[in-house]
Amino acid sequence: MSTPATGPSARPRILSGMQPTSDSLHLGNYLGALVNWVGLQRDFDTYYFVADLHALTVPTDPEVLRRRTRITAAQFIAGGVDPEESAVFCQSHVHQHAELGWVLACQTAMGEMNRMTQYKDKTAKGQNANVGLFTYPVLMAADILMYDAAYVPVGEDQRQHLEITRDLAERMNARFGEVLRVPEPYIVKESAKIMDLQDPTSKMSKTSSTEKGILEMMEDPARLAKKLRSAVTDTGSEIRFDPETKPGVSNLLVIHSVLSGTKVADLEAEFAGRGYGDLKKAVAEVVVEAVTPFRERMTELLDDPAELDRILARGAERAGLIAQATTTRVRDAIGLLPGAR
Ligand code: TYM
Repeated sequence: MSTPATGPSARPRILSGMQPTSDSLHLGNYLGALVNWVGLQRDFDTYYFVADLHALTVPTDPEVLRRRTRITAAQFIAGGVDPEESAVFCQSHVHQHAELGWVLACQTAMGEMNRMTQYKDKTAKGQNANVGLFTYPVLMAADILMYDAAYVPVGEDQRQHLEITRDLAERMNARFGEVLRVPEPYIVKESAKIMDLQDPTSKMSKTSSTEKGILEMMEDPARLAKKLRSAVTDTGSEIRFDPETKPGVSNLLVIHSVLSGTKVADLEAEFAGRGYGDLKKAVAEVVVEAVTPFRERMTELLDDPAELDRILARGAERAGLIAQATTTRVRDAIGLLPGAR
């Protein structure tokens, strides 16, 4: 569609976010999303945000939320997001997200939200269901549609949310004229689902993985290596990529491959005839090599929270210009009076 790009850059836009629901990103967040965010910075106009409004769907102590919001933003930067290149901001600092979320909620059928698998999974596991959790994907659609995003780099677990986002954009365009850009998911097949080390048929997850199943970027390297040594592997002894019959070994191969830049087929050849212990040791080495500079950069960033807040303020200012243009366009299209600008 031909929605004009707003702002200084005519490069297609990329938008993505992460929730500040933990003191550390895990390796799934890093490999499934952050690595791709970094890779897209040069060729696209990139917007990366901390989804602090989404984090309110889970009851959180205000002090903890504040701390985790800064930590999450710092981790984007420690992982390679350059705040001079990309806008790094907090969702709640661009108030138009909530406004567009409301407009989109009024275009969303109850049945569509009822079908969202993340909501169903979370409530099935006993998570207290507030209305925010139920309408979570609508706010996520607003996040994306606000920026006329061409691509949204995420892991596989967000695919359904991107589908509803596309549906909502198409519905708005059908009802009110071409007002929103329909985005494409950007999901890199190999790394889109990093699995739990102890249960390699389930994704690594902040909320459902056990302590031994999850690798946190901020963890002590010796602990990471220990967890990798005790990762569940599969029966047999062959080191082969086959997620169906060898989910544990396949997960380790993927982790190694993305971090080392070595093709899975080359790793299979390298480890032919060797044991699982050798593979685990090699994976531990590449993981520790990746997290060490990350942890060092985090220490520097967290030592200077004022600079971090300045980065977030600059990012929100940049994002706010686009958000203002989009909401003005949407308000006009749907029949809200302009009001004072
Ligand atoms: P969140 O915070 O749960 O996860 C952040 C990113 O990490 C990816 N991810 C994984 N990738 C591979 N393997 C895994 N095991 C794994 N676990 C998590 C997620 O797919 C995600 O890309 N709803 C979003 C936050 C959000 C958002 C948005 C994202 C809010 N608005 C707009 C994109 C665009 C979420 O909860 O991500």
